Order: sequence, then structure tokens, then C-alpha cells
Amino acid sequence: MALPKGLAGVVVDQTKVSSTQNAVLTYSGYPVRELKNAPFEEVVFLLWHSRLPTTNELHDFRKQLVSQMALPYETVQLMARIAREPQHPMSILRTTVSLLGTTNDVERDEPPRILAKMLTAIAAIIRIRADLPIKHVHREWGVVENFIYLFSGKRPTSDQVAMFNTVMVLHADHEFNASTFTARVVASTQSDDYSCLTAAICALKGPLHGGANEQVFRMLETIRQTKQDPIQYVKDQIARGHKIMGFGHRIYKNGDPRAAILRKIAHRLAVTTGNEAYFTLQEQIRQYMFDKTGLHPNVDYYTALIYHCFNLDRQVFTTMFAACRTAGWLAHIIEQQAEGCLIRPSSKYIGKTDRHYLTDKEENSVD
Ligand SMILES: CC(C)(COP(=O)(O)OP(=O)(O)OC[C@H]1O[C@@H](n2cnc3c(N)ncnc32)[C@H](O)[C@@H]1OP(=O)(O)O)[C@@H](O)C(=O)NCCC(=O)NCCS
Repeated sequence: MALPKGLAGVVVDQTKVSSTQNAVLTYSGYPVRELKNAPFEEVVFLLWHSRLPTTNELHDFRKQLVSQMALPYETVQLMARIAREPQHPMSILRTTVSLLGTTNDVERDEPPRILAKMLTAIAAIIRIRADLPIKHVHREWGVVENFIYLFSGKRPTSDQVAMFNTVMVLHADHEFNASTFTARVVASTQSDDYSCLTAAICALKGPLHGGANEQVFRMLETIRQTKQDPIQYVKDQIARGHKIMGFGHRIYKNGDPRAAILRKIAHRLAVTTGNEAYFTLQEQIRQYMFDKTGLHPNVDYYTALIYHCFNLDRQVFTTMFAACRTAGWLAHIIEQQAEGCLIRPSSKYIGKTDRHYLTDKEENSVD
């Protein structure tokens, strides 16, 4: 039996967290297009508990998350040493999460505390790398407002919070994508949550997964800086056999539902921050790609511009993806741990057979 390349379309396990059935992304049965303006905290609660919180529960959950966002001084000191290294921010994040797994109580930490610390750690990496002072959490604000403040150093407007909230909600989960599946494999061995998250970050780092948003902006910058014709640039890349980052998807062959929502946000932000030229460029490429290849933009195509409009350096774009996806990773880790079953698939061996060590050694000794 021929195996599908990259396990495309193969159902490997069941989940109640999210689904992309019929190319519609749902969290616990709710279409994300209906959740796009729901508070991020509410969506996290939904992913972790398979139901919406009551008003009181949401209030308490938000309070719990925000109150646990602060990082101990010693952790920041240790992080600062790693974050100043000239490594890619995703490598720094990988090591930082691993570090959080040694400076925190690995066996007893609960998901709210872990998510809260992850968000603050990501914001801290961004500040330390830019040689900017660490900001402190405001307990009376929500998670998204705090997160933007922690990485940007400025209190966001309510409009900015709303737009970033949608970005976070849309990235919060995506069933068995590569990083989530990686987290589930580690969780299935009954390893701790920090180890699962560290592994997930390793998988997210690659350009075929979360790393695509950085590569999208790199392409846009290159085209603008070298004053190239965007269509010619894309044609040349395809002729060389290169993929155009931010296009195509394993599941959404007729368009990524998240991209349509993010396109509107990217446009609004581009207009208000003087980045319309980037948006126009993206539209030209989008049209050409569709006409020539039938490929649609995916979630990473417009988030690249959104993050740029939030003054983020392109190298840290994928850490933003990690910040949002930690919610989903934890939901899957909780579900997998409850499953209590080791993930250990089998492989089809396609190498040589019937070889014998002594015979081959003897033959190798004859020149
Ligand atoms: C996401 C992705 C890995 C999905 O891949 P997939 O389902 O395995 O599909 P394939 O890579 O087999 O692509 C199918 C065909 O479309 C082409 N294709 C897919 N994405 C392409 C892209 N971004 N640019 C140019 N061609 C692309 C492939 O070259 C392939 O062509 P072929 O059949 O002539 O060989 C792929 O579309 C990709 O690499 N995109 C760019 C990276 C990216 O944006 N990742 C973020 C995903 S959210």
C-alpha cells in the first residue's frame, strides 16, 4: 500500500480540541470566524475545557493568567544571558522554555501559569534583544493588552488590542499541525509540559511551518529594497524551484479561512501606520500566485505585515506565532496526557534486506 507523502490526509488519532474538517477551522465545535472577536482568554478556556466559560469564570481566569505573568528576577537574569546571544530568536525561545522548565516546578505547574510565563518570556526576549528595559505587568489589564505592552513598551489603543486579539485567537490552535503533533508525541511519553512545549517550538521554527511569516516579510523587504518588479521576482523564484512563502496549505486547498480575516486587519494597520506600499505589493503577488498557480495565501502571509505594523523585527515573527499557539499546544498536551497512551507508530522498511555482516566484512577487506 502506497503511503501518502508527509502523512497527508492520514488520521492518526482523535481530538476534541479543534478540527479542520471540510476545510472549516473550528475550536471545540465553534467556527473560528465566529470566535474572531472573542477575548483570547475565553478562547483559551474553551480549548482547555471544551466549553465556554461563564462571565464569572472568564473574569477569574483572566485574573489568574495576568497575575501569573510576572517572571522572577532570577529567571530574567538567566534569560538575559541567552537572549543576548546572536542566535535566531526561535533558538533563544527554545532554550528559554527549556530554562523555564528548570527554574519552575515542572511536576506541579498548571497550564495557566505556563501560558502566562511563556507570553512574558517571549516579550522579554524581544526587549532584551533590542536592549530595551523589561516592562512590568498591569494586573488590571487583560492578557492581550499586557502582552503588547510587554513587548512594545507602549500601552496599546483599544483598536490595536482588538486587532491583536483576533490574531491571537486565529493562531491559537490548528488540530494536528507539525508542532502540535510533536507536542503530543512527547506528552504521550508522560514527559512534563515544558519538555512538550520545547519540542513543539523546535518544530514550529522551520520555514515550512511557523517560520514562513518571517520569510514572507524577508521577500517583501528584498523586493522593495532592490526595487525589483514583484511579478518578475516571484516568477524567477518559482523557475528556480523555490516555494513562495505564505502560499499553499496542506489542508486548505481553496484558501485558508484565517487569511481572509487577517488580510482585512493587515490592510487597516498598513493604512494607519504608513505601510500601504507593503500591502499593495502583497496584493500584486497574491493575484499573480492565484492566476499562475491557483495557490492561496495562508495564515502567515498577512501576519507578516501585521507584525511589522506593530514595529516588530521580522526575526521575532515566529516567536509571536509561538505565543499564540502555546494555548493550543497546552490543550493538546492536556488531552494527550489524559489519553495515557504512548504514540509509537510503525514504519515501512524500504532499505536493503538479507545482508550478512561477516560476509560483507570479508568482501570489504579485499581491495
Ligand atoms: C504549506 C506547504 C508545506 C503545504 O505543502 P503540501 O500540502 O505538502 O503541498 P506540496 O508542497 O506538495 O505542494 C503541491 C504543489 O504546489 C506547489 N506549491 C505548494 N506551495 C507552494 C508555494 N508556496 N510556492 C510555490 N509552489 C508551491 C508545490 O511545488 C507542488 O507542486 P508540484 O505538484 O508541481 O510538485 C506548502 O504549500 C509550502 O511549502 N508553502 C510555503 C511555506 C508556507 O507558507 N508555510 C506555512 C504554512 S501555514
